[in-house]
Amino acid sequence: MAMYPTAHINATPDDFAKTVLMPGDPLRSEFIAKNMLEGAVLINNVRGIQGYTGKYKGKKVSVMASGMGMPSIGIYSYELFNFFGVENIIRVGTAGALDKDIALRDIILAIGASTNSAYASQFCLNGTFSATASYEMLNLAYNEAVKKNVPCHVGNVLSSDNFYNADITANEKWIQMGIKCIEMEAAALYMNAARAKKNALAILTVSDNIITGEVTTAAERQTAFTDMMEIALETAIKI
Ligand code: HPA
Repeated sequence: MAMYPTAHINATPDDFAKTVLMPGDPLRSEFIAKNMLEGAVLINNVRGIQGYTGKYKGKKVSVMASGMGMPSIGIYSYELFNFFGVENIIRVGTAGALDKDIALRDIILAIGASTNSAYASQFCLNGTFSATASYEMLNLAYNEAVKKNVPCHVGNVLSSDNFYNADITANEKWIQMGIKCIEMEAAALYMNAARAKKNALAILTVSDNIITGEVTTAAERQTAFTDMMEIALETAIKI
């Protein structure tokens, strides 16, 4: 029995490249497809989760939105890995820095993704699972950031279920464990990749600093976003 199309992705495995870039925002997906890929074709639009496949430097690459949060990226990455033959997913997103010395627009490569969500409970493990990035992709992305002279940090991030958290002491405890920033998707992506024996990486740009209260302007976010996308696309065609 064919497992596609699914309830969430109206496409076939042939529609997708081996590597999919995943921004949270569907409009970012459209922006990447129209401005950074050659000959991009819309392959999914269920719930407005725009997915496109085109070419970057002659190589087939796909981009599809994940939506916000672990349940949303959990659905899309599960279906891409398990039903659409996708091998590699690179999340390209934003994060709030938890360290005053991390500047706005810096890049953070999530070598590990800690979480306050119960996503791992489905695997019934007798312990705490370490959700980690693909070393190969992380290494490619790091080298690309160095080459482009983009400040780049590698570390453990927090994938949080809460953008607004009633517990005002929560961040302090994660900071004590060396967590560099908060975002909302990487841990589910890494767990799905591990379970499916596939590869994943989260590349994050710092859109705000939670410690200093600084926030990026729309123009700054666009520049930072372009740097991050070029790093992700170079990683996609080299993996
Ligand atoms: N929290 C969670 N996700 C985020 C943040 C944040 O402060 N900033 C950008 N993405």
